[in-house]
Amino acid sequence: MSDSLHSLQRTLCIIKPDAVKKKVQGGIIQKILDAGFNIRGMKMIRLDESAARKFYEVHKERPFYGELVSFMTSGPVVVIALEKENAVADYRKLIGATDPAEAEEGTIRKIFADSKSENAVHGSDSEENGKIETGFFFTDKELI
Ligand code: CMP
Repeated sequence: MSDSLHSLQRTLCIIKPDAVKKKVQGGIIQKILDAGFNIRGMKMIRLDESAARKFYEVHKERPFYGELVSFMTSGPVVVIALEKENAVADYRKLIGATDPAEAEEGTIRKIFADSKSENAVHGSDSEENGKIETGFFFTDKELI
């Protein structure tokens, strides 16, 4: 149930291979929780090439698509289904700009990311994609 003023939204966080390798998952998750998000589902997985290609299909014509797929399959990731009022916009503000060099002070990417391609976390870019991307990794039964 939702009303238009206070609708709960879902958004997908992926803690990317660079952040898992650096063992900063804990710090990232704590910042997300401190910002008022609820975790409805969470798991650590290793994406295979076909899953990564499918997840990032929208970028398939971009010059960085191959690099993106190879990076996202280079090690384990943590996928997290987040829920909160206004989750999509609030989470994007919390993570900061795609390029950490352009991200605001205090944002997750400013603190934890190294570059535009190895940028620590993913976030859904719309309410619609929040639902689609959460469904990509979690069945309804897995969301608590
Ligand atoms: P993400 O939010 O996961 O969605 C698409 C990803 O593509 C983005 O984060 C970046 O990691 C990556 N990306 C975007 N632009 C570039 C770029 N110019 N070069 C390399 N990777 C990029």
